[in-house]
Amino acid sequence: MTLLAIRDLYLHYRSGDRVVHAVDGVSLTIENKGEAVGIVGESGSGKTSMATALMRMLPRNVARFDGSILLDGQELTILSDDDFRRQIRWKKIAMVFQGSMSILNPVLRIGFQVAEPLLAGGEVSKREALQRAESLLERVGLPAGIAQRYPHELSGGQKQRVVIATALIMNPDLLILDEPTSALDVSVQAQIMNLLKDLKEDPGISMIFITHDIGLASDLCDHIAVAYAGQHAEFGSAERVLLDPHHPYTNLLLRSLPRLHETEPPQAMPGQPPDLTRPPAGCRFHPRCPWAFEVCFSEAPPEYPMADGGHARCFLNDAAVSGDRFQAHLRHWAESRV
Ligand SMILES: Nc1ncnc2c1ncn2[C@@H]1O[C@H](COP(=O)(O)OP(=O)(O)OP(=O)(O)O)[C@@H](O)[C@H]1O
Ligand code: SF4
Ligand SMILES: [Mg+2]
Repeated sequence: MTLLAIRDLYLHYRSGDRVVHAVDGVSLTIENKGEAVGIVGESGSGKTSMATALMRMLPRNVARFDGSILLDGQELTILSDDDFRRQIRWKKIAMVFQGSMSILNPVLRIGFQVAEPLLAGGEVSKREALQRAESLLERVGLPAGIAQRYPHELSGGQKQRVVIATALIMNPDLLILDEPTSALDVSVQAQIMNLLKDLKEDPGISMIFITHDIGLASDLCDHIAVAYAGQHAEFGSAERVLLDPHHPYTNLLLRSLPRLHETEPPQAMPGQPPDLTRPPAGCRFHPRCPWAFEVCFSEAPPEYPMADGGHARCFLNDAAVSGDRFQAHLRHWAESRV
C-alpha cells in the first residue's frame, strides 16, 4: 500500500490584510517504506510550510488548510487535533526542524532529552525510556556515554545526530528532515547523509528531505519535488528529474550548478522569487521563464502527468497545444535543456 499520498494540499497564512499562499495545491506520493523524497527550491517557496502542515503544527494566523493526506490508507485531515496528537505526530510522522540543533535544552542531559517524548507519553518506565534513548544514540553513531553529557559538550554534527535520535524515539514510519545539514561543514554533512542512507535501509524509514541543495537531494532521494512559489513545479523519480527535466525552472536550477568537467560557466537563475501574497497570474514562473509564450501569462498550467508517475506544471508538456509558435518554443526548449 502507498505509504503517503498528499493531494491538493493548501496552507495559507493571514498577513495583515493579505493572504500568503505558502502551500497552494501540492501533491506528492511516497510509495514504499524506506523511500526518500527530496523537496528542493529557493527560500520562501513553501518547503517548511508543507512540512508543518504534515505535522499539523500550524501557527495561529492560518487562513486556509485543506487537502487530502493519506498515510498508510488513513485520511489524516479528518482527525481531530487530539487524535492527531495521540496517534500520528511523533508516532507515525516525526520531524527534524530547520535549525533544531540550536534548541537542545542546555541544562538537560542528552539521554533525558532523547527519551523525553517517550516519558511524556507515560507508556513506558523511566528506565526503559532511557535505555531506548541510549540504544538509539548508539544507532545514530554516537559514542557510549554521550547520554550523560550536556549539549555544550557536543560538536555540531553530534548535536544533529541527537536531534535525529530524538525524532526516531517513537519509531515513526515517516521522518521529515528540514535542512538537516545546512549548518554543518562538508565532511560532517557527508557523515550525516551516510547516516540517513543507513536509516533508509535499516529500519527502513521513509523520509521527506528538504533542502536548497539539489545535489544533496540527488545523493539520498529516490524522488524529487521541485518547489516553486507554493507549488511543485515538477515531481518525479530523481533520475528522471535530474537527467530529463520537464519544467524550465528545474532546467535552470540544474544549469545554475557548477560542474567539474563543463567548459561553460554555470548560469545564474534570472529574476527573483515572487511575493506569495500576490503570486503572478497564469504560470507562476512566467516572469522569469525564457520559454514563456502567450497562454503562460493568463492561464495556470495543470500538473501534466509524466511516464514515471510524476508530473510537471508547464504547458510545454501539453501535447494538445499546437501551432507554429508553440512548435518553435518546443524546439528552443528541447535544444536548451540540460
Ligand atoms: N506564520 C507565518 N505567517 C505568515 N507568513 C508565513 C508564516 N510562515 C511562513 N510564511 C511565509 O510563507 C512563505 C513560505 O515560507 P516557508 O518557510 O514555508 O518557506 P521555505 O521554502 O521553507 O523557505 P526557506 O528555504 O527559507 O526555509 C514565505 O513567504 C514566508 O514568509
Ligand atoms: S508554463 Fe510557460 S511560463 Fe510556465 S514554465 Fe512552462 S513555458 Fe515557462
Ligand atoms: Mg524552510
